[in-house]
Amino acid sequence: MKRIVILISGRGSNMQAIVECCAEQGWPAQVVAVVANRADAPGLAYAAGRGIATAVVDHRAHAGREAFDAELRRVVDGHAPDLVVLAGFMRILGPAFVRHYEARLLNIHPSLLPAFAGLHTHRRALQAGCKAVGATVHFVTPELDHGPIVMQSVVPVRPDDDEPALAARVLATEHAIYPLAVRWFVEGRLRLQDGRVTQSDGASQVLI
Ligand code: GAR
Repeated sequence: MKRIVILISGRGSNMQAIVECCAEQGWPAQVVAVVANRADAPGLAYAAGRGIATAVVDHRAHAGREAFDAELRRVVDGHAPDLVVLAGFMRILGPAFVRHYEARLLNIHPSLLPAFAGLHTHRRALQAGCKAVGATVHFVTPELDHGPIVMQSVVPVRPDDDEPALAARVLATEHAIYPLAVRWFVEGRLRLQDGRVTQSDGASQVLI
């Protein structure tokens, strides 16, 4: 059984989707812990209710990023993860942390990377007049919101879309692609070579 640790900062709806798919679809894996950088992250209560270990590593309680990253790594490594999943984890992780989990650290970002790294992705896409947006699951590298792409979803923009409407439609696709990408990882179906990811069964890596 592969051991998954999920890091969250808030609502944790992607974490919930992964926990539920893992249990319902009988993955060869278990979500062994959910760790938040905020004690008030609503997702913590859900995880605890499912009997999953929870922990808080509060970034404000640490002198700087390196001290925070070191404590986070100590807590995460205490659960001996095969895979660490960032699910709405809104802290930038330093290069030492990222390298420690190289090729076993996934993130989801609500844009079609490499477009719109960073914050306010939907607002920026609407301002740019994009006709399609989406979400990206990728392996994490030290550069923010970059790294080998595992799967993307594509969502058409409607003429009357505003930021919340677009965010909601993209989020619904996140709940489909993130569990699938994590499942592929724990089932050993992802190949990472020369910065590119392929799915060993030839399954589509885009949800349209
Ligand atoms: C999701 O939309 C996720 O893609 C985004 O935060 C939201 C978290 O929602 N992540 C980022 O912006 C990371 N750069 P959730 O807590 O309900 O999963």
